[in-house]
Amino acid sequence: MATSFSLLLLLLLSLFSLSPSPSQALTPKCSTLDHGSTLQVLHVNSPCSPFKTREPVSWREDVVQMQSKDLGRLQYLASLTLLMAVDTSNDAAWVPCSGCVGCAATVFDFATSDSFKSLGCQDAQCNQVPNPTCTSSTCSYTMTYGGSTVAANLSQDTIMLANDSVPAYTFGCIQKTSGTSVPPQGLLGLGRGPLSLLSQTQSLYQSTFSYCLPSFKSGNFSGSLILGPVGQPKKIKYTQLLKNPRRSSLYYVNMTGIRVGRRVVNIPQTALAFNTTTGAGTIIDSGTVYTRLVEPAYIAVREEFRRLVDANLPPDNYLIRSTAGSTTCLAMAAAPNNVNSVLNVIANLQQQNHRILFDVPNSRLGIAHETCT
Ligand SMILES: *[C@@H]1O[C@H](CO)[C@@H](O)[C@H](O)[C@H]1NC(C)=O
Ligand SMILES: *[C@@H]1O[C@H](CO)[C@@H](O)[C@H](O)[C@H]1NC(C)=O
Ligand SMILES: *[C@@H]1O[C@H](CO)[C@@H](O)[C@H](O)[C@H]1NC(C)=O
Ligand SMILES: *[C@@H]1O[C@H](CO)[C@@H](O)[C@H](O)[C@H]1NC(C)=O
Ligand SMILES: *[C@@H]1O[C@H](CO)[C@@H](O)[C@H](O)[C@H]1NC(C)=O
Repeated sequence: MATSFSLLLLLLLSLFSLSPSPSQALTPKCSTLDHGSTLQVLHVNSPCSPFKTREPVSWREDVVQMQSKDLGRLQYLASLTLLMAVDTSNDAAWVPCSGCVGCAATVFDFATSDSFKSLGCQDAQCNQVPNPTCTSSTCSYTMTYGGSTVAANLSQDTIMLANDSVPAYTFGCIQKTSGTSVPPQGLLGLGRGPLSLLSQTQSLYQSTFSYCLPSFKSGNFSGSLILGPVGQPKKIKYTQLLKNPRRSSLYYVNMTGIRVGRRVVNIPQTALAFNTTTGAGTIIDSGTVYTRLVEPAYIAVREEFRRLVDANLPPDNYLIRSTAGSTTCLAMAAAPNNVNSVLNVIANLQQQNHRILFDVPNSRLGIAHETCT
């Protein structure tokens, strides 16, 4: 369900060993990665994001024209780390593996890892992937992500997350991919399902994590991902986290209204209602760039913004400006008019410089201002 969402976070993992491509130049204007202790985060729309070098996959990405295309090359290519996109609306992790057809140049060379193994069809995890097939007993699967297809072998290896070692972590080793939606460095799913990193590290991190996403204008890996209950902020406001069996990987919240400036916008309750039959309601998502509201809610919010557009609003969380001209747009869109039209999505432009805390054991989501720049 969430597969059409684009991606938000980049996360530095000290993971596996990579074969850097000599053709990829470094960029002095983007900060380098400190692959020491913390997991660092950069906005996917940052000029320094390697994902920015790719063709826009939708009109939304087209709207934000970032400065320079070749800024998105980073020193990680020369280090023993792997940069991945984090998506809270997906469960699985996939990594481009050596021999992959259609992957970017940087791949995980599994032959250099003693602890790597492919899972077989008899392994229980093989039942958790979409469309599993068995070729010479290896558990392989194919799936779509946005406009892309991915073929992968289900695999396991030990990963290092900052100082923590996660043995026998299950992920997809990508053999083949097509289309432009798959992040070239791979994806790390932080959703609620069984294959998610959080489910696989239950005893280590207790299904608790938070992130702070720096501004999409920032070239620095100054955001952070904190895994586990230790070190989470105490001063934070909570709302209930809801689980919807219809879309069981997603993090739902109970959005009951929207204020523009001081005014509560008049939105019909049916546009916001949580419904376990239809999957309707509101999710918070790291993987969508622009907030989407179902049409009646979007129209009401847009009209109120039009009235207030000259007022003193904090612009980066709501507005995007064309670099080419003087156009300024509300960084929200009506939900597409299809099966997903029942879902409101609180997206990542609105989460910049906030800490978002997912406390699954206590069914609550925390939000606090935090300047991570
Ligand atoms: C990782 O270990 C190093 C060395 O022991 C320590 O300085 C650093 O603070 C640790 N990082 C985290 C995130 O615990
Ligand atoms: C993936 O599975 C196919 C079919 O068994 C096999 O040919 C290929 O070598 C496997 N690749 C990896 C990385 O395990
Ligand atoms: C990035 O980091 C450098 C050095 O720490 C700092 O001077 C600069 O202001 C930062 N840039 C942004 C956009 O935060
Ligand atoms: C959402 O909040 C409203 C207003 O407080 C309440 O009536 C409704 O029952 C809540 N829905 C869920 C699913 O918690
Ligand atoms: C959920 O949606 C279905 C289909 O539109 C509707 O019949 C049902 O009453 C709704 N449930 C709630 C709790 O609103």
